[in-house]
Order: sequence, then C-alpha cells, then structure tokens
Amino acid sequence: RKRVVVFISGSGSNMLSLADACASPDFPAEIVAVISDKASAGGIAKAEARGIRTFAFERKSFASKAEHEAAMLAALDEVKPDILCLAGFMRLLSGDFINRYEGRILNIHPALLPLFPGLNTHQRAIDAGMKIAGCTVHFVTEGMDEGPIVAQAAVPVLSGDGAETLAARILTFEHRLYPLALKLLAEGKVRMEDGRAVHDVSVTSTHAD
Ligand code: GAR
Repeated sequence: RKRVVVFISGSGSNMLSLADACASPDFPAEIVAVISDKASAGGIAKAEARGIRTFAFERKSFASKAEHEAAMLAALDEVKPDILCLAGFMRLLSGDFINRYEGRILNIHPALLPLFPGLNTHQRAIDAGMKIAGCTVHFVTEGMDEGPIVAQAAVPVLSGDGAETLAARILTFEHRLYPLALKLLAEGKVRMEDGRAVHDVSVTSTHAD
C-alpha cells in the first residue's frame, strides 16, 4: 500500500473521505500522517480520532517560508510518504518543495479547472453565470491550481444557488472524486510525464458521477 500524507488547513472533510477509502482493505493506499498549517484546524482532531498521526506547523512560528517548508519536509522524511494529497491546504508550496515529490503531489480544487483557480471560486462561477460547476483533482506544479488534470466531476449550478449552497453540493462530489484520483495514482494508472497527466489505457472513468 502506498503511504500518503494529507495536507490540510481547515475542516478536513476531504481528508476524512480519503481516510474512509483507505479503511477498505483492498484500497491501494494508507494515510500515514496529516500535516496542518493551522494548529486550530478542525481536521486535526478528526484525524486523531482515527488514530492518524498529526503535525501542525503554523507559518508564524517560522521566520521564513523556507524554514516553514523545511520543518514540513523534515516531518515527511520521518514518515516517508509515497504520495502527498493537498486537501484544503491553503498555502502555495515552493518549487523546491514540489520538486522533492515531483509527480507525487495531488490537489483538489472546487472548480472545473482551468476555470476559476484561486480563492472565492464558487462565487466567481455563479457571477459568471455558469450552469455547470465542479471539482478537479490535479498534479501539483508551481503555479496555483495549475497542474495536469487527473480527474474531474461536473456539478449543476441550480437557480437560487449562492456560494454556500453550491460549495456544499460540490463538496459531496469532492468526497467521491478524491479517493478515485488517489486510487489511480497509487495503482500507477496515472502519471505525470512532460508536464502532462498520462492515464493508463485501462482507465475507463476519470469522473465522479
Ligand atoms: C474544499 O472544498 C477544497 O476543494 C477547497 O477547500 C475545501 C476544504 O474543505 N480547496 C481549495 O479551495 C484549494 N484551492 P475540507 O477541509 O473540508 O476538505
């Protein structure tokens, strides 16, 4: 089983969906630690309740971004993950950090990338008059929400939706999509090659629907 570290900043519901998937004995990955950049993140207690090892590294406890990342990299050296999953981790990782785990870092973003990267994504989709929204799991590269796409789910925007109702609907799809994408990577059925996601021919579905 591939060793996975999940990075969070908040409630950790995506982290839990990955933990639920990993609880199945035939799932090809296990979560060996959760790293948060917020000591108060709700996801930390949820991870601990599952018996998952947790680390909190507050940015303000370190003099520089480089020292903050060095602390996280030292924790990773200790738990020796194969794969990193960013799940609501609201911090941009440096190129140096990403290069250490190149092709082995996934992120989930609650939009149909390349549309609406960054913050406030649900409101921007509504403001643009989108009728379809969704979520994307992609390989992490240096740009924000920019790496090659591993899997996506399309989610309807309903009349009367606000950012909160749309976010809640998309989140339920995130919880199905992220385990699917992690399974593909853990089984070697998708890989990053020359800046593109290459899927195994046997992969029939890269969408949660
Ligand atoms: C999720 O909707 C995730 O896609 C989003 O933050 C939320 C975290 O929720 N991530 C981003 O916006 C990253 N750009 P969770 O902590 O309950 O998983």
